[in-house]
Amino acid sequence: MQILVTGGTGYIGSHTVVELQKRGYEVIIVDNLSNSRREIIDNIEKITGIKPVLEVFDLEDRKKTSDFFKKYPDLKGVIHFAAFKAVGESVEKPLMYYRNNLVSLINILESMQENDVENIVFSSSCTVYGQPDHLPVSETAPIKKAESPYGNTKQISEEIIQDTIKVSKINGIALRYFNPIGAHESALIGELPLGVPNNLVPFITQTAIGIRDELKIFGNDYPTPDGTPIRDYIHVVDLAEAHVIAIKRMIDGKMKNDFEVFNLGTGTGYSVLEVVKAFEKVSGVKLKYKIVGRREGDIVQVWADPTYSNKELGWKAKRNLEEMVASAWKWEKAYRSRI
Ligand code: UD1
Repeated sequence: MQILVTGGTGYIGSHTVVELQKRGYEVIIVDNLSNSRREIIDNIEKITGIKPVLEVFDLEDRKKTSDFFKKYPDLKGVIHFAAFKAVGESVEKPLMYYRNNLVSLINILESMQENDVENIVFSSSCTVYGQPDHLPVSETAPIKKAESPYGNTKQISEEIIQDTIKVSKINGIALRYFNPIGAHESALIGELPLGVPNNLVPFITQTAIGIRDELKIFGNDYPTPDGTPIRDYIHVVDLAEAHVIAIKRMIDGKMKNDFEVFNLGTGTGYSVLEVVKAFEKVSGVKLKYKIVGRREGDIVQVWADPTYSNKELGWKAKRNLEEMVASAWKWEKAYRSRI
């Protein structure tokens, strides 16, 4: 059973490739390596014993995308991760985000139609809910106006998929991720941001290992118990497992509608300070941090209602916060010792 994983050398993509291979799927990766490294393929092979096929090209290229689909006529589905994802950068370079994230999706959908590939799982985000009116947030909560071009590409992408589904045989599942963190237990794959990390956990681990001077906590005057914002952090392997279930659901014809949406979160929120404390506890490292002003665009708090995903997918996030930060720390140390 052949599955295309776009962005398969990236953070969530690589973990998903491993879980797919473990369950017997044959994975073909398309990646332009703009934010990842080719060596990840070797590390995936070390984990699973199988080297996935990697085709390096840009999905923004209509012809190359079309040629790719012709070269692999047995594809049963697509899991589409490849996209830019830095909120701040998207504000600076909106057209770069719209072009990359939307054009590649359109190219994929056109090629799927032309080649009768009917199943797509799309990487969406809880950012589509903005600051929800009710917590925990379920899939039926209204979509709020996007705070950033990045967030807008996720909203528009979901709409593009839905509109395409209406006039084609394509089925789609949008998985709305909360905050994926952590790494595979082997410490052979993990999150590897280029340059200064934007996200909390890579910044914590890079500070602990001495690459960054100190963590800046963006605000402790939010209306939360300790004043820092609350997010629903989810282990990347739990997230990866949900993708395998989603693509299988589509291939097996088990969908309730031809477009479905699922929240991927644990249902529990933790504050920034709670994440820092959990990290200090499992690592034994005293983290240097200081409180600075709020970061523009940050919401106060969000956590998932995963009831529908739990029930419909038969899936539940299993790994707790300490396991998440411990695995991220193990990965950071292993990666630095290898380079
Ligand atoms: C953001 C996006 C999300 C996107 C994700 C991936 C929103 C609301 N969320 O998640 O859609 O998928 O990035 O890039 O747009 N923090 C610090 N110091 C730091 C870094 C972060 O205090 O150096 C705090 C933030 O203020 C926030 C929390 O840590 O409260 C988590 O931040 P981050 O990891 O960047 O994720 P989100 O902003 O939640």
